[in-house]
Amino acid sequence: MEKFIWYNPTKLYFGKGQINKLNNELKQYDKILLVYGGGSIKKIGLYDEVIDILKKENKFYVELSGIEPNPRLQMVRKGIELVKENHIDLILAAGGGSTIDSAKAIAIGAVSEHDVLDLLLNKYVQEKGIPIGTILTLSATGTEMNPRSVISDTENNLKLGLGNWEVDATFPNFSICDPTYTLTVPKNHTINGIIDIMSHVLEQYFSRNENNILGEQMAESILKTMIEIGPKLIHDLENYKLRETMMICGTLAWNGMLRGLNNKGDWACHRMEHALSAVYDIAHGEGLAIITPQWMEFCAKKDPSQFVKFAVALFNVSIENKTDKEVAFEGIKRYRQFLKSIGAPLSMKHYGIKDYDLDDLVDKTMLGSKEIGRYIPLSRDDVKEIISQVF
Ligand code: NZQ
Ligand code: ZN
Repeated sequence: MEKFIWYNPTKLYFGKGQINKLNNELKQYDKILLVYGGGSIKKIGLYDEVIDILKKENKFYVELSGIEPNPRLQMVRKGIELVKENHIDLILAAGGGSTIDSAKAIAIGAVSEHDVLDLLLNKYVQEKGIPIGTILTLSATGTEMNPRSVISDTENNLKLGLGNWEVDATFPNFSICDPTYTLTVPKNHTINGIIDIMSHVLEQYFSRNENNILGEQMAESILKTMIEIGPKLIHDLENYKLRETMMICGTLAWNGMLRGLNNKGDWACHRMEHALSAVYDIAHGEGLAIITPQWMEFCAKKDPSQFVKFAVALFNVSIENKTDKEVAFEGIKRYRQFLKSIGAPLSMKHYGIKDYDLDDLVDKTMLGSKEIGRYIPLSRDDVKEIISQVF
């Protein structure tokens, strides 16, 4: 195994009714910025619940609503202004990944001497921020228990990520994860969530780490769970038990546990997907479903070893009378079939997109790096070849 640091300061409240812990968490704060999206928290009654608690606790609060999927830098800047004007001491985000990621960028942007865009470009690491609390309403990103934040700079068509795993600043101080709030997530976003959770695990499964039996089996266990519950859930969206299982899978997929054991992971698919969603504003989960099988095929041709494990462990592919490459490609075929069976798009043709600037997409993937990924380090030309396959 590689040496690693495993740090996670987020206090997680998991399960039905955990919102009743919010008043206690709010005790140490006076001025709160409530951040949310386009209104789903009002439809599910969460907005009223939160406002009731804020009022009962006599908290001063201001609201930043209208955070969009693929959240925009402009809204982050608006939030930063609100924090400064109102001397906010807690940012409370209620929603999915886009809302929570915006809260994180606001939290550090508001106290940093640097512009938030420079933080997103990773020019500086911001060590301190305004405390963050979250109430999760969509299982997918793991943002509820990790330091990462992904924000779209629409002026430059870039999707940028920040958040350091060894620094408290963008970890939520607390997160309330009640599966009840996710019962209303529509089918398309549920599918996207399943794909995103599985992709986070896959990115960490395809790592270069010797003697990693436990890390691999923990990853396989989350993947198997998602393969078991995903198809059931999309036909039974209000099933609490399935939502509950998905929610904990989402958190554990990307909260540092697998990252520590799996040598930080690969993340080439996420890099390429962020370029696709920066340019075409497609949902993150859909972009991952499109790019991942292409990446798998490219890498399995060069080194099928981990793909053989994947095929056998997840899809019971028989190894008898087959070469490693045949087993690996059978596993990839089965993963593609799984994605198709849950209704995920597998090509950019799904959007009717015909015109594309391949070099621009490669630039937006590489963002100045010479190589991306760890399982097979990918050069510019490799990335170009993979992305060209998705159109
Ligand atoms: O805006 P509202 O009205 O809340 O509606 C949202 C939005 O339209 C809706 N929704 C959320 N909870 C709901 C609900 N609708 C009904 N009932 C509920 N309970 O769902 C839509 C999508 O929400 P969004 O927050 O965009 O989805 P998700 O949680 O998948 O977040 C995606 C974003 O996170 C980034 C992605 O790139 C993307 O920008 N990621 C963040 C990561 C992280 N911070 O660690 C890692 C990921 O790899 C990812 O890159
Ligand atoms: Zn993701």
